[in-house]
Amino acid sequence: MTAEMNGTGDLVLDHVSYQPGPLLLDDVSVTFAAGRVTALSGPSGSGKTTLLSIAGGLVAPSTGAATYDGRATWQGDGDPPPEIAFVLQVYGLVPILSARENVAIALRARGTSWTDASDRAEAALARFDIADLGDRQVEELSGGQLQRVACARGLVVGAPVLLADEPTSELDQGNVSVVLDALRAEAERGCVVVIATHDPAIVELADHHVAIDEGRIT
Ligand SMILES: Nc1ncnc2c1ncn2[C@@H]1O[C@H](COP(=O)(O)OP(=O)(O)OP(=O)(O)O)[C@@H](O)[C@H]1O
Ligand SMILES: [Mg+2]
Repeated sequence: MTAEMNGTGDLVLDHVSYQPGPLLLDDVSVTFAAGRVTALSGPSGSGKTTLLSIAGGLVAPSTGAATYDGRATWQGDGDPPPEIAFVLQVYGLVPILSARENVAIALRARGTSWTDASDRAEAALARFDIADLGDRQVEELSGGQLQRVACARGLVVGAPVLLADEPTSELDQGNVSVVLDALRAEAERGCVVVIATHDPAIVELADHHVAIDEGRIT
């Protein structure tokens, strides 16, 4: 696999329902198009994180299918396909590693050498103005700093699909703009970009808007 994967395909949910007990997604059909920023909005508990988890192959739908470029994203084990990168709502960072190591492991998981991964991680942190925090253990960072490390890790791999779950919820306006500009640049590269958000300003800036309520697209 090359370091930068060029995107062309769409991410499609076709009649997806998810019912681990309660019905959390109810017959969701939606297309997240390549080259577009899509905002996914809805009240807390409406199913945004659940939808992104199924779209990205972390969880299997109960019925229906999620596909990227025509192939199912669920690979049978909860590992997302290499084409899909996440900025997770709870960050998913490893507390005892440094900020730079947390970003670098996304590249290591895709076969990049340590030196190369470390250099690219450093550059990704710099995009979010936290290059000076690369050596800090993430348990010593503030909420907004953690969120920016999570953004750096999501973007560093240059994946063709980027699923960002409330990536700006802890940030000041200046840093919100930095993150949105970075996500916009990914879409301009041809990526599928989905941003789950409560922020009307982000919905306004997106190319598409998908709203969800009680597990249904509205
Ligand atoms: N495995 C599960 N079993 C049962 N209920 C679940 C499970 N996972 C999530 N839920 C519930 O599903 C609903 C949707 O959760 P989800 O995290 O997708 O919402 P959200 O829209 O991302 O909310 P927020 O804006 O607060 O992040 C919530 O009521 C949640 O408690
Ligand atoms: Mg959520």
